Amino acid sequence: MKRVYLDNGATSFPKAPGVAESMMDYIMNNGANVGRGIYESSFQAENIVYETREKLAKMFHFHEPANVVFTKNITESLNIVLKGLLTKNDHVIVSSMEHNAVMRPLNSLGKKGVSFSRIQCNQVGELNPQDILRQVNGNTRAVVMTHASNVCGTILNLEEVGKICKDKGLMFIVDAAQTAGFMDVDFKRLNADVIAFTGHKSLLGPQGMGGFLISDDLAKVIETFIEGGTGSLSDKEIQPEYMPDKLEAGTQNIPGIYGLNAALEYLEKRGIENLRSIEMNLVQEFLDGLRKINGIEVIGKKSVNDRTGVVSIDVPGKDNADISFRLNDEYGISTRCGMHCAPSAHETLGTFPRGTVRFSFSHFNTLEEVEYTLEAIKKLT
Ligand SMILES: Cc1ncc(COP(=O)(O)O)c(C=O)c1O
Repeated sequence: MKRVYLDNGATSFPKAPGVAESMMDYIMNNGANVGRGIYESSFQAENIVYETREKLAKMFHFHEPANVVFTKNITESLNIVLKGLLTKNDHVIVSSMEHNAVMRPLNSLGKKGVSFSRIQCNQVGELNPQDILRQVNGNTRAVVMTHASNVCGTILNLEEVGKICKDKGLMFIVDAAQTAGFMDVDFKRLNADVIAFTGHKSLLGPQGMGGFLISDDLAKVIETFIEGGTGSLSDKEIQPEYMPDKLEAGTQNIPGIYGLNAALEYLEKRGIENLRSIEMNLVQEFLDGLRKINGIEVIGKKSVNDRTGVVSIDVPGKDNADISFRLNDEYGISTRCGMHCAPSAHETLGTFPRGTVRFSFSHFNTLEEVEYTLEAIKKLT
């Protein structure tokens, strides 16, 4: 059976050309740890690790490669950042479109006296940044927000949010899981203090690779989440205070870093804006086609403006999970159904608890796959 992969919002497939080769090359021909050996292969690996920090800093328009911290995914990044920066009585503002990677750590921090307020987005997932002002109180320390919804693809106006944070002296922590590698994400233009990313979605790298970028000021004050060997200051039994060692204890996912490095190379060569335009042309065709099918509803924005390549549909009168299952079973089309780890986003969009069928594209998809998928949806609905 034909296979069409439309679950790039969960994790991208295929990965960028060169990712697998780069990982295999490291494992087969290098294999050394970094910061711990005084031999050639260790220096080589160390260079690639640093080069990857530099490439990420460049991509996010960020000034300091040493403040690019590697983790295993954005969930780990957000846990390190939120738990390392927030303390008793702190108040945080989030949107109603957040993923559980933000909401679960925040709810867990509730036990330590951290509270949050949620800004209600509208029925298509748009945020009115001015609403933040009504929630700021004397204890508010941070705004934590997703850059784009993983449920319906709506991009939130974070530039305005960043200006408000700067004006009010609040930390601005951005969840760029759905936008890193898909569009230009600019640390300075967003007035961000932290941008967290995951390597395996639009960055086209391997699973098990994520990270975050953190401002100099916050890097100084953040509490460490785990401590241990760094290969540096080995004569001391306390964690180094300097970056990135302060926040990177233990041996890193070096094969993953090699893979991400190759993916970043590919993105730079092809140009994120070029790839985005290829992807959004496919999304345009898909949305146009969906409009002509009776009995389905596109959830969120109906046009390609201010959205990513994530498109959710609801099929009233039918079981969305069944549609997703049959798309795979009868047509070989991989989608995702259900809550997508973002229950409050579904409440906002009016799809709780039914959930949606989510189609998420990448520039590797083709027009023919879009047409095939539209035909399959038409037959199933
Ligand atoms: C907006 C958003 N934040 C966080 C995550 C969590 O990503 P990961 O599983 O790579 O930690 C996802 C992934 O689905 C997401 O879409």
